[in-house]
Amino acid sequence: MKRVLILGDLPGEGAAQLREHCEVEVHDDEGLGEEGLSRLIPGFHGLLTLLIHPVTDRVLAAADRLQVVANCAVGVDNIDLAAAERHEVIVTNTPDVLTADTADLTWGLILAVLRGVVSGDRYLRRGDFHGWRPKLLLGRSVGSVVLGVVGPGRIGRAVLTRARAFGVRTLYHGPSRLPEARERELETEWCGLEELLASSDVVSLHLPLNAATHHLINAQALRRMKRGSFLINTARGPLVDEAALADAVASGHLAGAGLDVYEAEPAVHARLLELENVVLLPHIGSATVEARTRMADCCFEDLYTVLVEGRVPARALVQPVSRGGWT
Ligand code: GLV
Repeated sequence: MKRVLILGDLPGEGAAQLREHCEVEVHDDEGLGEEGLSRLIPGFHGLLTLLIHPVTDRVLAAADRLQVVANCAVGVDNIDLAAAERHEVIVTNTPDVLTADTADLTWGLILAVLRGVVSGDRYLRRGDFHGWRPKLLLGRSVGSVVLGVVGPGRIGRAVLTRARAFGVRTLYHGPSRLPEARERELETEWCGLEELLASSDVVSLHLPLNAATHHLINAQALRRMKRGSFLINTARGPLVDEAALADAVASGHLAGAGLDVYEAEPAVHARLLELENVVLLPHIGSATVEARTRMADCCFEDLYTVLVEGRVPARALVQPVSRGGWT
């Protein structure tokens, strides 16, 4: 019987079918790093990882039986895809099923920073609310801002779609332009990154993390952003130099930021924690019962497809060159 290692306590009943055909072991150990995983992985044919688990060359080299890694996330920066290809291991992720919920949370952060939703809550709980005042907690009118979306992938496009409902003018930047019909439908315009940074009141990041996007938003990029603008990041923390962001907000150049992700999760840069106009969430972009259940289901389905049906799943990002290595 094939053996599957599930790293995490996942919602839903998706594992039931897999359990009928495979021996499934669950390890809910958040601290499992490269070394722990390298020790645990020998003998397993399938692996379900969370974005906190590093699937490195070393882990893959230790995995003597591994055929498939199903990553319960859309981002796969925790997995060395080139190494997976070398080791002939299929890798899958969970696109689409979390797009709407992550875009919704992005808008939650945009509204929170523009309208002081979190600082207003803190203000009231501190006992500072003594009655309606004309100038109390004045934010920015949502419909008056320009939103710049960096990365018009699935989630970026869903954020642009929602912008229309708020009457927000949008710009987007990506390596290539969307088809014209798509731009018209989304009522958005492509522009270069520098222009987007200089022209947007809110910049929202929706890019994968890789060597080219690491610290895309560094001190120089932050200086290019409009004075009084806001940065939103629901993608990956290391896209942003957190120390530089803390400087930009503390100096008043940026009016605030809304973050769901951090450079060294679960740590958050100490100076960001002190800034009233920075809204900080604990990486919950896809955290709805619906999305997380669908994500788990995708992973179980892909493990089943490879290990029981002997097929390459449609969601495979990396697949063996010669199937001889794993069938
Ligand atoms: C969450 O951050 C994901 O990549 O799914």
